[in-house]
Amino acid sequence: MLIKSLSAKGFLLLTFSTVFVGTIVAQEKKSQDRLVSDAAIETKIDVLIKKLTMEEKIGMLHANSIFGTAGVERLGIPGLMTDDGPLGVREDIKEGWASANLTTDSATFFPNGSAIAATWNPTLAYRYGHDLGEESKARKKNIILAPAFNIARTPLCGRTYEYYSEDPYLNTRLAVQAVEGIQSQNVAACVKHFAVNNQEVERGRINVEVDERALREIYLPAFKAAITEGNAWTIMSAYNKLRGAYCSENSYLLQKILKGEWGFKGAVISDWGGTHSTVNAANNGLDVEMGSDPPYNNYYFAAKLLDSVKAGKVSIKAIDEKVRRILWVIYHTSLSDKFTDGKINTPEHSKTAYDIASESIVLLKNDRHLLPLNLSAIKSIAVIGDNATRTFHLGGFGAGVKARYEVTALAGLQNRLGNKVTINFAQGYSGVFKQTGPNINDETSKADPAMIQEAVAAAKKSDVAILFIGGNRDYESESRDRRDLGLPFGEQDLVDAVTAANPNTIIVVVGGAPYDIGKIKQNNHAIVWSWYNGCENGNALADVLTGKINPSGKLPFTFPASLGQSPAHALNAYPGNDFNVKYKEGILVGYRWFDTKRIEPLYPFGYGLSYTTFDYTDLTTDKKTYKKGDVVQVALKVKNNGQVSGKETIQLYVSKPHSVVLRPEKELKAFAKVPVDANGTARVSMKFNVSDLAYFDETGKKWVTEPGDYKILAGSSSRDIRLLTTIHVTR
Ligand code: BGC
Repeated sequence: MLIKSLSAKGFLLLTFSTVFVGTIVAQEKKSQDRLVSDAAIETKIDVLIKKLTMEEKIGMLHANSIFGTAGVERLGIPGLMTDDGPLGVREDIKEGWASANLTTDSATFFPNGSAIAATWNPTLAYRYGHDLGEESKARKKNIILAPAFNIARTPLCGRTYEYYSEDPYLNTRLAVQAVEGIQSQNVAACVKHFAVNNQEVERGRINVEVDERALREIYLPAFKAAITEGNAWTIMSAYNKLRGAYCSENSYLLQKILKGEWGFKGAVISDWGGTHSTVNAANNGLDVEMGSDPPYNNYYFAAKLLDSVKAGKVSIKAIDEKVRRILWVIYHTSLSDKFTDGKINTPEHSKTAYDIASESIVLLKNDRHLLPLNLSAIKSIAVIGDNATRTFHLGGFGAGVKARYEVTALAGLQNRLGNKVTINFAQGYSGVFKQTGPNINDETSKADPAMIQEAVAAAKKSDVAILFIGGNRDYESESRDRRDLGLPFGEQDLVDAVTAANPNTIIVVVGGAPYDIGKIKQNNHAIVWSWYNGCENGNALADVLTGKINPSGKLPFTFPASLGQSPAHALNAYPGNDFNVKYKEGILVGYRWFDTKRIEPLYPFGYGLSYTTFDYTDLTTDKKTYKKGDVVQVALKVKNNGQVSGKETIQLYVSKPHSVVLRPEKELKAFAKVPVDANGTARVSMKFNVSDLAYFDETGKKWVTEPGDYKILAGSSSRDIRLLTTIHVTR
């Protein structure tokens, strides 16, 4: 992508070719260097494999602590030291998942996956990965269990907040950058969860039946790119089954696709406790068995694996291949001379967290221009809601971070407004959530009339009320899905009462997944969407609310008007019966379904407002007719109509009229986020390959680029298409 910033003063001229040629030369140099060092690594591995005993080899293939495996001291081979991911480097844990109670394991809390996705900014995904890698290294972890990017198939999935998006292309661009960022530090990314881990209900038993086209077009692209472009060194197999076989012993997934088609050279690591057999798993592609509970010698890949080798059920060659893969990871990480001391909790890492947070916040509605806050007229603000004082680095089941600090929304507003404005705080509701088991969220606490009264009083005596509601990290969690899209903790009652008390009520919803905010959209005039937004959460929010930051986040998934609109729910294809779930919607996931079926969502994919507006003009392509193998260069101009600078994400969708197969109404094929000065114009160029227009042919089992006309649509969201042009692809 190349951006030319045009100001009123004139065009800033840059030649496309120079930039592209320069990039290609640098890439070629990098891959040549890699070939040389990879060959040297292979030689070292050959030598080591000859020296290792079978017992030592088997010792390397399974956990010997919650997050580690054994090395071989006599040969100088270190064990694998993993840690969660993705929110930051998790605190050290003892057996039984209790905290190790160290004072040296705090880390930076980075924004959650859907926040990163809402930035639509791959550069920020890279910076996130880079800093996470640097922190992992400082904590002596050579594998970080991140990023996670399963497709948001249902808005209810408890891990939607950890994942990125409902769209494979947005997923892909972010995943590749996050992986490259992490691995730039010689720490291995562990991309997860491979594959189709799209619900938490019965995740350990559920069998996913998905057609090949949807698998290839929707669920696998980001994994494929993370391996083939991002060169990820490890991958985590998912808990669930795909077409009858657990992902940890799924030969189709691990042997044919991952190691065969994609040429993966690293190690497949099981999810914790997600291994179910010795011989099957060993022969079908799993390399390392991880789990939480000792005794580790009882693991499938411990004594039982040794017995299976002795019995000839697993070949020595298969074991050597696994060891080779592990050594491959180790040589790129802990045995690399670039595996230095790393850095942790630095101001630069906080800045990354802040930049992601500030670009992720989505302005959903502002029809009376209550935002940005007019600080020359406002003397008092009611800050209401449990989420104004709650932190999000820990909570629920699964990975969190022992954050060195986290700025809450209230603290952020206090930091930024100082004593210029009186802040009247009221808690409004209690966000305490208790869960008794896995699968589906239990009941939450209800509205509390006394708390609502207190909030109403605060709102009445203030010029403006800002209400912080939404989910929290206990409510959205790994191992269970939400029961429905409803706002928890009786929040709607609070919203109604406060809005009635003060018409200048601004709603800030904090959540990692869609919620039903239909009534709020109807009744309120200013709605801001925020996320579990890292250690700088409150500062970023305050800067957006006060206008220091012009919001530029866009939704990474569709917000349905009701759950029944969503494809998996409309087709009664969630959470499955008898531990089987059939993905009946096929390729029509997310906006692909809403657009093709002409269903009006509450907020569409890619939606987000700014404090200014942008006009799009002059959409062109470098040619009108393309052949297979060509690259399509698309250019347009974006004008900022307002008095404030801002960033706009231009989304390029492609639509194939009269296709021989079912096609979604449109599909995202490129995007660019560009800064545009007040009253300025930016020229934006984007590109995609003609091969990106292909569909996966179920019968021929191959990608097919259909000849004919394709519409290129440039939009500010998936439902706000501003410009259109047509290209032709020849036979
Ligand atoms: C999660 C993984 C995580 C692992 C280790 C599992 O329950 O699914 O994402 O990396 O635990 O904590």
